[in-house]
Amino acid sequence: MAKPVKSFSCTACGASFNKWSGRCDGCGDWNTIQEDKGISAGPPSKSLGARRGSSVQLTDLSTEEAPPPRSHSGITELDRVLGGGLVPASAILVGGDPGIGKSTLLLQAAAHFAKAGLKTIYVSGEEASAQVRMRAQRLGLSDAPVQLAAETNLRDILTTLDKERPQLAIIDSIQTMWADNVESAPGSVSQVRAASHELTAFAKRTGTSVILVGHVTKEGAIAGPRVVEHMVDTVLYFEGERGHQFRILRSVKNRFGPADEIGVFEMTGKGLAEVTNPSALFLSERGQPAAGSVVFAGIEGTRPVLVELQALVAPSPHSQARRTVVGWDSGRLAMILAVLEARCGIPFAGLDVYLNVAGGMKISEPAADLAVAAALLSAREDTALPAETVVFGEISLSGALRPATQTENRLKEAQKLGFTSAIAPAGGKTAAASGISLNTMSDLTGFVGEIFGA
Ligand code: TYD
Ligand code: MG
Repeated sequence: MAKPVKSFSCTACGASFNKWSGRCDGCGDWNTIQEDKGISAGPPSKSLGARRGSSVQLTDLSTEEAPPPRSHSGITELDRVLGGGLVPASAILVGGDPGIGKSTLLLQAAAHFAKAGLKTIYVSGEEASAQVRMRAQRLGLSDAPVQLAAETNLRDILTTLDKERPQLAIIDSIQTMWADNVESAPGSVSQVRAASHELTAFAKRTGTSVILVGHVTKEGAIAGPRVVEHMVDTVLYFEGERGHQFRILRSVKNRFGPADEIGVFEMTGKGLAEVTNPSALFLSERGQPAAGSVVFAGIEGTRPVLVELQALVAPSPHSQARRTVVGWDSGRLAMILAVLEARCGIPFAGLDVYLNVAGGMKISEPAADLAVAAALLSAREDTALPAETVVFGEISLSGALRPATQTENRLKEAQKLGFTSAIAPAGGKTAAASGISLNTMSDLTGFVGEIFGA
């Protein structure tokens, strides 16, 4: 008889190995490799050749068959992030820091989907049903026909789900689930992986949409193995700063819609409220035009969003000048500083540089380059940009400006919010954006000369 095959995985990053070692090759952590017990230990019982399988010609698939109808919660910000509603049989992972509002969001979603006619079960492994009911009461949702269960045993949950066959099951949270055939503590990699696998398989088998809630580690990844992200169809992150009211639901992966879509919510005393005009919210704390402040006309997913970038540049008392960034990429900041120095002859050596995206928003678009450069120069020269101006465009290492995508949408949004001029790279499509004066430039040197007279 063949010897049972052992497998090991890293409790930090989830990488799998066929032998134990002291250090994980995946993430470099020490003493994180553990033997996997219970799941997939041992070879398949039959040889692969004996398995039944089938395949189908792509061209044989009927094109007549309409895609399954999506269900809408009526929470527009949520439906959009899901790619236009909830797809039957889909598995969705919602990750976020503890206390950010995941349970609140999903209880509200459960109530809305239930009121829209979906049979919905909300399984809480963290709170008792009475606690969940109290929260629902506080949110004004106690009349919603949602079934509640307080349960952590995976087998019991699957039995309940199999009996009830809901259209939507919410599991809050995947870290509290416990499979009794896996010998490790709830929250461990093997448990999270086993529970996610079972629940995703249940979704595919029965047509129930399953939403898994996952806590995020301090490094920002969903606690437990990365494989969970690969198992599910959609991965959403719920982000926000504790000190700020608003929260952003961002799709980082979606098999049924565009990734990078965002939904914006505000945490109120009565739960999460939708923010239908995020630009107005992000700019609401903006004061008089000041040196170092620039409004960036960005695109998040399919939607234009205006945000304020703030820079501070000051002589450094340290031998090594500081570079501090909140809400943007620090590598990208270093690149902009290098281009300003090499192509425009504007040095930042000996100067501390701080860059902040106001309101706690995170930006990843390269089109923010020019707005960042403008904020840095404005802070360095102590000169405010012309009032009511938005800036966007990507900067290349040569100092050339590259047109951004969706120029027209950015301009339209700026115009809608009362901005009168825009600075952008030459070459973008701008036909439909009248009513806003557009100042186009082809390189960074031209921009510096025209705006700062340097
Ligand atoms: P919660 O949904 O429990 O977070 P998570 O499930 O991500 O851990 O949200 C907890 C926070 O939300 C808590 O600090 C209180 C706040 N909150 C409100 O401000 N208003 C509300 O109506 C609710 C229900 C919660
Ligand atoms: Mg919670």
